[in-house]
Amino acid sequence: MLKDQDRIFTNLYGMHDRSLAGARKRGHWDGTAGFLANGRDWLVNEVKASGLRGRGGAGFPTGLKWSFMPKQSDGRPSYLVVNADESEPGTCKDREIMRHDPHTLVEGCLIAGFAMNAVAGYIYIRGEYIREREALQIAIDEAYDAGLLGKNACGSGYDYDLYLHHGAGAYICGEETALLESLEGKKGMPRMKPPFPAGAGLYGCPTTVNNVESIAVVPTILRRGAGWFAGFGRPNNAGTKLFGISGHVNNPCVVEEAMSIPLQELLERHCGGVRGGWKNLKAVIPGGSSVPMLNFDQCNDAIMDFDWLREQRSGLGTAAVIVMDQSTDVIKAIWRLSKFYKHESCGQCTPCREGTGWMMRVMDRLVKGEAEVEEIDMLLSVTKQVEGHTICALGDAAAWPIQGLVRHFREEIEDRIKAKKTGRMGAMAAE
Ligand SMILES: Cc1cc2nc3c(=O)[nH]c(=O)nc-3n(C[C@H](O)[C@H](O)[C@H](O)COP(=O)(O)O)c2cc1C
Ligand code: SF4
Repeated sequence: MLKDQDRIFTNLYGMHDRSLAGARKRGHWDGTAGFLANGRDWLVNEVKASGLRGRGGAGFPTGLKWSFMPKQSDGRPSYLVVNADESEPGTCKDREIMRHDPHTLVEGCLIAGFAMNAVAGYIYIRGEYIREREALQIAIDEAYDAGLLGKNACGSGYDYDLYLHHGAGAYICGEETALLESLEGKKGMPRMKPPFPAGAGLYGCPTTVNNVESIAVVPTILRRGAGWFAGFGRPNNAGTKLFGISGHVNNPCVVEEAMSIPLQELLERHCGGVRGGWKNLKAVIPGGSSVPMLNFDQCNDAIMDFDWLREQRSGLGTAAVIVMDQSTDVIKAIWRLSKFYKHESCGQCTPCREGTGWMMRVMDRLVKGEAEVEEIDMLLSVTKQVEGHTICALGDAAAWPIQGLVRHFREEIEDRIKAKKTGRMGAMAAE
């Protein structure tokens, strides 16, 4: 188990003072000016050496992403944009950072901004996060008043402004290029890539978009050393990580743990175990609603990191662990996600606009058993036509949960269809 002294987020549960004074007592904002004095290359190299991979879902190496930013400006300013849209179902980890430990993020924004020679940083926060926005704005104001942000930030000779912008509650605005469009005041619709944001991002200028957690862990990585962070987790899966566990566990929670912790250990140590005991487990969605679920056998062996879950044709995603016990109607659970993706599709690409509706309507009938067995394969083929054929990854996100359902619970779907035909009620979904 991760020791308390190795936790980056020391106020995750809001038990302590979240103000600048309180954050300083817990070691934040300590030696920040010295890190900046070490220069940009040093900062980028430290983050690379730590092995930090992006915490927003895709797991792209953070230091490498920063290194794509131009070292010399061609006249255009550079920007850091922090993705605080956090709308993936099941995901609520960034929220705890922003409302209880906001200075970890503010300090991280200064360091990351400096490392990529940004003139300003923008934090794009989910519209519904009102209290979080208030807490974060107070932290930003405190940092300005203390000379840590703004002109000559932290006494470094570098001018850096940090803005907090709130969204209006669209999941798609968490996709990084839709987020940039929204930040520019336009409709949140994803852009075609390339160009990638490092080449042409916010207002056509070089931009790096990172998740809240990716940025908030950086100051502590620098203070404790890249080797310290790299010491947690299996190779290529470094660090401590926030996991958000919901569903059928005794104590749902957000907890910081070492990467690569076995799933069973995570649930038993921090969540009081699965409701009704481990054997009562049916399936787990390990990384927010967009990744395929694991069945019970996979859960027995599951290691919570990027590579292990990828090898199982699932993913760590946002590390939002959704636990479903034997009482769960898994078909209905995935139908609900299909409904969500249909609702959140921005409608730009035909396979996603039409496909999400298609998939939801077939799922609707599978829940009721009002389908033919052959339609299961038809549904699967629709998911394959959507997957990889769209501008952004929302199409994949809508396809994968269904693929996971069919992979693991095809018999249950077939059984329901048969039950409907014969009038046998046991297999039917609850209304
Ligand atoms: C539909 C969709 C929604 C997304 N929502 C979020 C989000 O709420 N927060 C987030 O950090 N990343 C989200 N992402 C991923 C971002 O596009 C981007 O990869 C991420 O912010 C990069 O940060 P990282 O490198 O620090 O992980 C979303 C992606 C897609 C396709
Ligand atoms: S995949 Fe869906 S959400 Fe993404 S750009 Fe296309 S239509 Fe919009």
